[in-house]
Amino acid sequence: MSQLNDVAGRVEAVTPEEIPAEMASPTSTPLPTLKVALLGCGVVGSAVATMLVRNGDDLASRVGARLELIGIAVRRPERPRPDVPVDPSLFTADADTLVRSADVVIEVIGGIDPARELILTAMKHGASVVTANKALLAEDGPTLYAAAAENNVDLYYEAAVAGAIPIVRPMRESLVGDDVQRVLGIVNGTTNFVLDKMDSTGAGFAETVEQAQALGYAEADPTADVEGFDAAAKAAILASLAFHTRVSIDQVHREGITEVSAADIQAAREMDAVVKLLAICELVRDDSGAPSAVSVRVHPAMIARSHPLASVRDAYNAVFVEASAAGELMFYGKGAGGEPTSSAVLGDVVAVARHRLAGGHGPAESAYADLPVAAMGQATTRYHISLAVADRPGVLAQVASAFAEHGVSIETVRQRVLGEGDESRASLVIVTHHATDSALAATVDALTGLDTVDAVVSWMRVEGA
Ligand code: HSE
Repeated sequence: MSQLNDVAGRVEAVTPEEIPAEMASPTSTPLPTLKVALLGCGVVGSAVATMLVRNGDDLASRVGARLELIGIAVRRPERPRPDVPVDPSLFTADADTLVRSADVVIEVIGGIDPARELILTAMKHGASVVTANKALLAEDGPTLYAAAAENNVDLYYEAAVAGAIPIVRPMRESLVGDDVQRVLGIVNGTTNFVLDKMDSTGAGFAETVEQAQALGYAEADPTADVEGFDAAAKAAILASLAFHTRVSIDQVHREGITEVSAADIQAAREMDAVVKLLAICELVRDDSGAPSAVSVRVHPAMIARSHPLASVRDAYNAVFVEASAAGELMFYGKGAGGEPTSSAVLGDVVAVARHRLAGGHGPAESAYADLPVAAMGQATTRYHISLAVADRPGVLAQVASAFAEHGVSIETVRQRVLGEGDESRASLVIVTHHATDSALAATVDALTGLDTVDAVVSWMRVEGA
């Protein structure tokens, strides 16, 4: 008979007065304790420490064990931190010793070193790990997963992608019975803020980044965000989960938003679209329909205003998932910030703590599909191309031939005459049907060489259809 049945049986047999004090209510039974170590006490770490302490009783009830914060590893433990409501003696510079005695280690230091060694040491000593470290997961996820499996512990990382938004667990668990076809994510709040402001004000990129910096939305050095590195790390993690295939950050094609001009934003407006920096993870299928590769890329793209992602404003994030059976799903919310990110961290802490009590662990790495990562040239999408051309007979035919010769089919053409007389010029805006990136690049090269084409003013991918 299980212990639960045994207790229920005995309770039925006695009067209320006879119930022993420790069984009178669930809260009166002393709970076991799990030791939690926190690595890092920046914006996210201090929010995590605060939630752990302030919500201690509720978390204990939800887990079935008290979560005892046994230490917080920081570089300067002597620094006063009045906003973090913990005993100052918990701060230590000795992260290595700290992780050896914990049941659960929360890593919010970020970066590769020393985070990687600390996580590996923690696992070796039997701790489950909760991390927000997208850079480390995107660079060396398989090493961490292998250590988790070897040591029979959990590796959870909901906060590594899109802050507060639950997307890792839906991918790892809720959607694991389905086939994910495509993931389109706005996973970087800084760039979404900048592009959204460019759209609403008509201002250029440099000016808008300065504004974003003044408002605290962009870092003093915004490179990781505006060049797409942050989004590329998240794309690698999402693609690995979606397609059961290892994808590292160096396999992600990456273009940032520094070249996006006010004219590009205006061009998007004219076709009732917005420009977003998208993290795109797609399953590529062969002629028989079988999955043959994955395409993983980060680049600016036009997306129709009618698409749900177009309504993601300011610094918000969203991840749009297309799955065979589930259809379209969108996950939306705050992608950064101390409290939103700590919500995701604490959710993981509760999950791994529950597993420890139950004596099991959550999902391990799933990389069985082992698909190749397709070269960017094989990626297929639609394109918006803006040309400055001479306005005389035969120009449109020549331009159309350049597309046809490279197998790129034109969906729409719009011409606007820019001048009068024999030397008049025109602007041509062409939107294509789906074509490969290499076919489009070859078409652009061919257009550049035509004497009737003054310039390929710009081209941009069009996603979401
Ligand atoms: N810098 C990121 C952003 C948040 O702007 O969304 C952390 O990944």
